[in-house]
Amino acid sequence: MRVTGSIKRNRPYILGVAGGSGSGKTYFASAVQRALGESVCAIVYQDSFYIDQSAKFDFDGGAVNFDHPDSLDFALLVKCLSKIKNAEEAELPIYDFHSHSRSAKTLRLPVKPVILVDGTLIFHPPEVRALFDDLIFFDTPEALRFQRRLERDVKERGRTAEGVRKQFESQVKPMHDKFVEPSKRFANTTVVDVGQFDDVLARYTKALRDLI
Ligand SMILES: Nc1ncnc2c1ncn2[C@@H]1O[C@H](COP(=O)(O)OP(=O)(O)O)[C@@H](O)[C@H]1O
Ligand SMILES: [Mg+2]
Repeated sequence: MRVTGSIKRNRPYILGVAGGSGSGKTYFASAVQRALGESVCAIVYQDSFYIDQSAKFDFDGGAVNFDHPDSLDFALLVKCLSKIKNAEEAELPIYDFHSHSRSAKTLRLPVKPVILVDGTLIFHPPEVRALFDDLIFFDTPEALRFQRRLERDVKERGRTAEGVRKQFESQVKPMHDKFVEPSKRFANTTVVDVGQFDDVLARYTKALRDLI
């Protein structure tokens, strides 16, 4: 963990939370936010930065590779994070998973001392990586990630089990192995098993509270 004095210099502290799909990023980020309070801690999701795919999307057929870095607007993420780092309000894009398009509206993010950025590929582009004060990676085994993803997509996103399995094999796994896994080396903290979770959460919550 690398806790600098950036908040004391009146700059938001930006923590990158990466790891494969189903690795526990959102679970961790939500827990940190709950512990610190929403008035001091916000979460920015990589998922908001998808490039508009409405022309190509075919529901379960896999025409769009959502796990490839090219499907994300990292230039816009850099723009938003640079504003946040300068203690300015940022206009976050809104991506609609039903129409697979970017909304005409944006979400104004007020200045807060702690910003968590949650995403599978956020450690991949060097220009995004450079904006984090600290980087944590959830290195969860593939079998557990797949199981969690299956449950989530069937329950919450109305997908079929077969569609989820196919997408995992054809896109999630290969893109994970090619882009997500290699970006692990940039992390300051790597969480390898669920048993470490409470300890890591307590350490981060304390360190971030001490900074605010
Ligand atoms: N440390 C943990 N202990 C128990 N359940 C967890 C843990 N981390 C994640 N989960 C569960 O696994 C599922 C996937 O986690 P999530 O945080 O949504 O993954 P990601 O955001 O990395 O895709 C969620 O349903 C969550 O409740
Ligand atoms: Mg998530």
